[in-house]
Amino acid sequence: MDLLIKNGTLVNAKEMFRADLAVENGKITAIGSGLAPTEGAEVVDAAGKLVLPGAIDAHTHLAMPFGGTISSDGYFAGTRAAACGGTTTVFDFILQNFGEPMVDAIKRRDALCAPEAAVDYAFHIAIKDVSNGLIDTMKDAVDYGVPSFKVFMVYDFGVTDGVFYQVLAKAKEIGAQISVHAENNEMVNYFTKKFLSEGKTSAWYHYLSRPEFVEAEADKRAIEWAKSLNAPLYIVHLANKDGVDAVTAAKDAGYEIYAETCPHYLNFTSDVYKREDGRNFVCSPPIKGKESQDALWAAIKRGDIDTIATDHCPFLQSEKDWGLNDFSKIPNGCAAIENMYPYMLSAANTGKLDFTRVVELCSANPAKIFGCTDKGSLAVGKDADIVVYDPTLDFTISQKNMHSDCDHTIWEGTELHGYPRMTFSRGRKVYEDGKFLGEPGWGKFVKRSLKK
Ligand code: URP
Ligand code: ZN
Ligand code: ZN
Repeated sequence: MDLLIKNGTLVNAKEMFRADLAVENGKITAIGSGLAPTEGAEVVDAAGKLVLPGAIDAHTHLAMPFGGTISSDGYFAGTRAAACGGTTTVFDFILQNFGEPMVDAIKRRDALCAPEAAVDYAFHIAIKDVSNGLIDTMKDAVDYGVPSFKVFMVYDFGVTDGVFYQVLAKAKEIGAQISVHAENNEMVNYFTKKFLSEGKTSAWYHYLSRPEFVEAEADKRAIEWAKSLNAPLYIVHLANKDGVDAVTAAKDAGYEIYAETCPHYLNFTSDVYKREDGRNFVCSPPIKGKESQDALWAAIKRGDIDTIATDHCPFLQSEKDWGLNDFSKIPNGCAAIENMYPYMLSAANTGKLDFTRVVELCSANPAKIFGCTDKGSLAVGKDADIVVYDPTLDFTISQKNMHSDCDHTIWEGTELHGYPRMTFSRGRKVYEDGKFLGEPGWGKFVKRSLKK
């Protein structure tokens, strides 16, 4: 035995119970009462604490070329921040190059990620090009352990509706899964041009150029296409009420439609774009109004949101400032990788939802949906990815106490009730009381399969 966590309350997706937990060689080896340490084992007294599976963040953009720059957290900084917020696995998006076979794309990014990752990682591939037989290389990625792909309906690297449909059909054939960033690109371009020509340039017009229906309409089309093929579809960063309703209807009709939302959509409303620092909140889809925020929380409570992920894509203040006089020049994205689990756990700690539901949303469901069979719960045989959480420890988020390379945070001043005290990645302590204790290169590639 290498580690014994004693006297804690273990939390899984369906239950909470008092128990001790033993770890050896990176795996959970025993759960029970009165476990005794063997010689040399580290003993953690978790009395009064919750013991949770590490979070799995299924949506990050580390070192991503985007908006004329590269997101400011590389693989080390991003995974260091993840560890310090109780996240022990991250899924990063690889942007395929034009003409690039899928496995080449994986190898290109893994060469950067493997020496830097401080926690375990997996990839999704954001598809740009399926011409000239590249569509068939999706199967090679599945065999390599990357059975999940994404299409963007927006941005200069977005795909056409035809390519999206083709990719959905291929994924169904080969046992893969497609995620989608759903917004109507034509509408976004139309509104952006119109507002800029009218001299309406502030961050508020980022929100107005991508109004609620622009996301909802794309959600509905994407769902219809998935339904027509009976193919699974995962909608990333769902932020609007009508989209939530469309997901609920599709689920109720028996279709395999999954929805993810992000902490910023749950904590802020579109009013942030009226603030002096509104550009720092610019992400796409934009943060919506109160009605949408309420709809997201209601869907979380009734089970129609499946996962919480961060869409972590931070940019430096100087880069956000490119858009001071033109919202379309603001690189899209915000930091959240260190905030997701603490934020959701604080919501549970203050009675908004159950701790078990937070574990389901942030760990068990992403593990299940994306095929991380060794992760997502505290059980014998699973990876010892563990968070020791102190429900009595209050914490105020500030850029100064974060572990990202970004120089600001939209979460500045947010007060949380309860906070992680320790994070273990495969049994190794990587965070304790404000300090990162891990190292670059510790994190391992998580090979996955979605075969049922
Ligand atoms: O604004 C965002 N979300 N930036 C990252 C790229 C994306 O759309 O997921
Ligand atoms: Zn997106
Ligand atoms: Zn994203």
